[in-house]
Amino acid sequence: MAAAMSMRLQGKTILITGASSGIGRSTAFEFARTCPQNLKLILTARRIDRLEQIATEITQELGPGIKVLPIQLDISNAEEVRTFVDKLPAEFKEVDVLVNNAGLVRGVARAPDIVEEDINVMFATNVTGLIQMTQAILPSMLKRNNGDGAGDIINIGSIAGREPYVGGGIYCASKAAVRSFTESLRKELIATRIRVISVDPGQVETEFSVVRFYGDQNKADAVYAGCEALTPDDIAEAIVFAAGRRENVVVADTLLFPNHQASATIMHRKTS
Ligand SMILES: NC(=O)c1ccc[n+]([C@@H]2O[C@H](COP(=O)([O-])OP(=O)(O)OC[C@H]3O[C@@H](n4cnc5c(N)ncnc54)[C@H](OP(=O)(O)O)[C@@H]3O)[C@@H](O)[C@H]2O)c1
Repeated sequence: MAAAMSMRLQGKTILITGASSGIGRSTAFEFARTCPQNLKLILTARRIDRLEQIATEITQELGPGIKVLPIQLDISNAEEVRTFVDKLPAEFKEVDVLVNNAGLVRGVARAPDIVEEDINVMFATNVTGLIQMTQAILPSMLKRNNGDGAGDIINIGSIAGREPYVGGGIYCASKAAVRSFTESLRKELIATRIRVISVDPGQVETEFSVVRFYGDQNKADAVYAGCEALTPDDIAEAIVFAAGRRENVVVADTLLFPNHQASATIMHRKTS
């Protein structure tokens, strides 16, 4: 299976948003390790120093078969996304796989105390940014394959998009919007060969909770106390698996939990 997957991914150009950390970073390594012979990776995020470091590490580990292009991009900035494709070098312009992963949660406030800036940042990043990036990449996917289209759009949602919880009103709403957009898109593109794929993680230990608590590491650690969360590599494996299926197979919808989790809020914690 690994060999077949590697063959199918050969020569592809993969664009990953939010590649500077967590799931996005792991996804970059997982694609590179699965198909080290011939792959192009476009890695985007705001922290360009992190992306450059990841590009160096990938090249050191896997050699010259992987071409990595780190690009600074704030996905919540509509103008930056609008001009993104035009600025890509010619050899990276035809994106085969778009992994819409950049996203964040801020705070645990409940209405009516949710800070306006947090509302705006979450929607601009998780929803508008994802939609705008999809719209920027789609035209070139639609032209391929004699007009039948080709390519994968992989949207990273969340259990939060399926099951809203207290203190997550905006984040959950943003991920529900991602889920809804993803399902509309799959229906809109049904006459094409473009695959629309959704991967919804449960609890994964990344920088996600540190961002949620505005940099407070102790509060972030408490989220995972008594739990063995998924690792970002676990999610990356599912993403690359989906992209590496035979062209006629769409892994349309995936929900991934760690073994102690049964819903957004049902979590078995060991108390020792
Ligand atoms: N961790 C979980 O438990 C969990 C569960 C379900 C779903 N998810 C989803 O998984 C995705 C990845 O999160 P993660 O857990 O890997 O968290 P993470 O470690 O905090 O990574 C988030 C990534 O998103 C990028 N990002 C945030 N705002 C951005 C912006 N305005 N422009 C460009 N990039 C931006 C960050 O890069 P910069 O800061 O460098 O810009 C970073 O690379 C998110 O969509 C998240 O909602 C996570």
